[in-house]
Amino acid sequence: MRTEVAIIGAGPAGLLLSQLLHGAGIGAVVLERQSRDYVEARIRAGVLEQGTVDLLHRAGVGARLSREGLRHDGLGLAVDGEIFRIDLDGLAGGKHVTIYGQTEITKDLIDAHLARDAAPVFEAQDVALHDVETNRPFVTYVRDGISGRVDCDFIAGCDGFHGVSRTAIPPSILQTFERAYPFGWLGIMADVPPCHGEVLYASHARGFALASMRSRTRSRCYVQVSLDETLEDWPDGRFWDEFALRIGPGAAAHITRGEAIEKSIAPLRSFVAEPMRHGRLFLAGDAAHIVPPTGAKGLNLAIGDVKLLAEALTAFYRARDESRLDSYSARALQRVWKAERFSWWMTTLLHRFPTTDPFDRKIQVAELDYIRASRAAQTALAENYVGLPFG
Ligand code: FAD
Ligand code: PHB
Repeated sequence: MRTEVAIIGAGPAGLLLSQLLHGAGIGAVVLERQSRDYVEARIRAGVLEQGTVDLLHRAGVGARLSREGLRHDGLGLAVDGEIFRIDLDGLAGGKHVTIYGQTEITKDLIDAHLARDAAPVFEAQDVALHDVETNRPFVTYVRDGISGRVDCDFIAGCDGFHGVSRTAIPPSILQTFERAYPFGWLGIMADVPPCHGEVLYASHARGFALASMRSRTRSRCYVQVSLDETLEDWPDGRFWDEFALRIGPGAAAHITRGEAIEKSIAPLRSFVAEPMRHGRLFLAGDAAHIVPPTGAKGLNLAIGDVKLLAEALTAFYRARDESRLDSYSARALQRVWKAERFSWWMTTLLHRFPTTDPFDRKIQVAELDYIRASRAAQTALAENYVGLPFG
């Protein structure tokens, strides 16, 4: 096979890049290790920044998002059960966020690929990158026991944190920055109405909790757990009891308990790999950086990278202009680090660390009290939450 851009990974980053390139008349082939069913069922993010929504529309995959997405103009913060609201719309210049599951974005993008007869190559095993330092890179893989090869001008590494693309950058060039947090999030999905009208972040002496949703009839709820806990430790009844305690009596009064249709534990991590380009290889999304989910930034950052990369590749194919390809890594990283900082800050502010002593808790509560009373502090939170502009 010969194409312009070989894309590794059919997550939101790889699929959206492929769709945007198609819109610009640039050919791309997407190689994905998992099956279509697996990719479509993977439950992850749910809060979209305005820039993410705009780009999905521009890619021609915004119709169902417009119909089914929920607009949220604010969010809630609960401190030991006392709730106050951050008015995103009022504080961040009329911007808001949209609730729409990553699963649904993935389905919409895959449907768009199928509609134009450009299905991703699912179940591509042993994907390997070759000659990325030359102008004729290529990717090899094995599918159903048969070897395949994609010759291309560029490779986009959109294969997530555990992918192979990042490893194609020599260790002498690649720098990594990392922080692992000493806890994880236990998340459940349940077909019950959300207990709070907006996304509610709860800081409690017992630990963090988050009340979110996918629709008016589907709740997505999390509690912070320690890293040695397992799903067996958390039957549904225990989950709802602990969740209710942490969000406090006001919101807990509106909980409808339901059976978990999905339950999983995700560790929390901050990670950045620099640079995001090596020769003809460009990294985008989780392949290059991870944030803890507390700021709802992971998916949005991935989409931000794709915006820059699609623009850079389009400039190259339209006018052989390489300047945007050359500045891609620096521009992307400038924004990535701001989201890393915000996600780290939200995580530190709202979670209970094993080392948290009564002094640390008093400091957390004082900072939250300051945010509750200060328009300046609320504005800083709101600006970051709705998404920072590109520099
Ligand atoms: P991914 O979605 O990881 O996609 C990468 C794709 O590459 C996958 O389909 C993978 O199968 C494929 N792949 C991997 N290796 C190979 C290979 N060798 N060959 C071919 N294909 C390969 N973000 C939020 O904003 N809010 C949240 O609540 C939230 N919750 C999360 C929960 C979990 C458990 C995880 C893991 C992430 C969560 N995130 C959240 C982060 C968000 O989901 C990611 O930032 C987002 O998925 C990044 O998209 P991506 O396309 O870069 O990577
Ligand atoms: C979610 O709905 O899954 C969600 C919402 C907000 C976050 C993280 C996850 O910060």
